[in-house]
Amino acid sequence: METFASFITCSIFVHFLLCVSAKPPHILFIVADDLGWNDVGFRNPDVLTPNIDKLARSGMILNSSYVMPVCTPSRNSFMTGHYAFKSGLQHLAINPQQATCAPLNYTFLPQKLKELGYATHAIGKWHLGFCKWECTPTYRGFDTFFGFYNGQEDYYTLSVAGGKDFRDNKVPVNATGEYSTFLYSRRAESIIKEHDASKPIYMYLPFQSVHAPLQVPNRYTDMYTNVHTKSRRTYMGMVTAMDEAIGNITKALKTKGIFNDTLIIFTTDNGGAVKFAGNNYPLRGGKATLFEGGTRATAFVTGAGIQKFNYEYSGLIHAVDWMPTVLSAAGGTADSKLDGIDQWDSLRTARESKRNEFIYNIDDFRPEIGGHAAIRIGDYKLIDGYPGLHQGWYKPDHVGYDLNEDVSTNCMRPFFDKMMLFNLQDDPNEHVDLSRKHPDIVKKLKSRLEYYHNQIVPANFPKNSASSAPTSYGGFWSPGWC
Ligand SMILES: *[C@@H]1O[C@H](CO)[C@@H](O)[C@H](O)[C@H]1NC(C)=O
Ligand SMILES: *[C@@H]1O[C@H](CO)[C@@H](O)[C@H](O)[C@H]1NC(C)=O
Ligand SMILES: *[C@@H]1O[C@H](CO)[C@@H](O)[C@H](O)[C@H]1NC(C)=O
Ligand SMILES: *[C@@H]1O[C@H](CO)[C@@H](O)[C@H](O)[C@H]1NC(C)=O
Ligand SMILES: *[C@@H]1O[C@H](CO)[C@@H](O)[C@H](O)[C@H]1NC(C)=O
Repeated sequence: METFASFITCSIFVHFLLCVSAKPPHILFIVADDLGWNDVGFRNPDVLTPNIDKLARSGMILNSSYVMPVCTPSRNSFMTGHYAFKSGLQHLAINPQQATCAPLNYTFLPQKLKELGYATHAIGKWHLGFCKWECTPTYRGFDTFFGFYNGQEDYYTLSVAGGKDFRDNKVPVNATGEYSTFLYSRRAESIIKEHDASKPIYMYLPFQSVHAPLQVPNRYTDMYTNVHTKSRRTYMGMVTAMDEAIGNITKALKTKGIFNDTLIIFTTDNGGAVKFAGNNYPLRGGKATLFEGGTRATAFVTGAGIQKFNYEYSGLIHAVDWMPTVLSAAGGTADSKLDGIDQWDSLRTARESKRNEFIYNIDDFRPEIGGHAAIRIGDYKLIDGYPGLHQGWYKPDHVGYDLNEDVSTNCMRPFFDKMMLFNLQDDPNEHVDLSRKHPDIVKKLKSRLEYYHNQIVPANFPKNSASSAPTSYGGFWSPGWC
């Protein structure tokens, strides 16, 4: 029986079985892009996700697991355990032309896992910057990378903003016209198949799905002929294609004989984008807002180490917790200075979360619109300033609604000075603003928010750089210009 020398020194006094059970798990960390609260079968039976549902029910559905309102900040947290507002990444996502990336002095999760003997692979979307090689996945702890550096690319042409964007490790790859979900699934399956199973594997699988553009082969939209809105039909097909990929990858783990030794974590990076048919009902708002619809993640954990099954865990988890939590599951220990908390014991045993408060985001970048911030302490949530566009409660068939209406009615200036207070225990869908009723609670949360605000690192959101142009790099978005 193999043991992992670098993992844990088994004392001769410890029972043999204990040593064996301490064997580090294989870890599959799946990130769906822009997947909404109401976009999985285990919450909404209209969405066909048999593989996700089965996995989720075989473990714990995380009912209060939070992420940042948009992509880059969440991914920074998953990798580093640091809040985006302390990393200069609190303002939106990184544009292809911006000379920036996740701070280079941060240690990424896969770097720590490599020290523990893990093989590390990233498949899919990076979106943590690429303007120099040091920013890119294979320089930040991944043995291999297969995917794209930016966001929002075309699923077939594998290009975005006038440049091609796809790599096998460092090597640019031309698109063949195949839908990207198939590419990722096949790569994940072949890595699992070829893997030397005596070594633990960490596979980070940030799918391109189900971010816009809304594209999927007809085979998947054909499963939703009862859905009348075209964008929603396509979106649901995209979710199902991703689910099929997850089914294929699960099967590969089983064929390899390592499924039972694998810890699987699934999370979205932010809420569903209302404008692109994502759905968070009954939660309020969508992607890019500080409301629950933008930040309360569809997420679950299952597999190696997780003791509960068919269980909804309501303890608070935040995106910053995943780095120390995964590291702990792997037998390591995270730096104590992280914002993230090691929640492995809580998750493993379904006991109380170690977290009672967190920051949704603090973003002062555009003073002309006042910026925004939000904090949760216990049952209470304070939103200070502009919560973001799309602030309503949108039912699944409520897509393609008039964006301008939303902008003119409740999103512009008069809103920006306002603070809103919600009790999420009594009112998880944020219908009742309690700020007038409970000025004392507002004051308390505001003062804690100030404490965090004093730690802010100004947003690193540079102007677009002309030297980024793909034309200088054979048509590909490429490192080398910062
Ligand atoms: C990284 O560098 C920034 C800016 O120099 C600094 O504020 C931060 O504390 C550093 N973080 C770590 C983890 O070293
Ligand atoms: C990609 O295709 C172009 C032609 O469109 C070709 O010139 C180039 O060599 C190809 N690059 C790779 C990496 O295959
Ligand atoms: C899953 O595997 C089947 C069988 O190999 C294949 O036909 C299908 O295209 C795969 N689906 C995805 C999304 O990769
Ligand atoms: C995996 O675990 C399941 C459920 O406990 C069990 O039925 C199955 O036999 C195990 N498979 C292997 C290969 O150990
Ligand atoms: C999970 O959250 C939903 C929505 O807020 C709530 O209705 C449900 O009761 C929660 N489940 C548990 C087990 O707490």
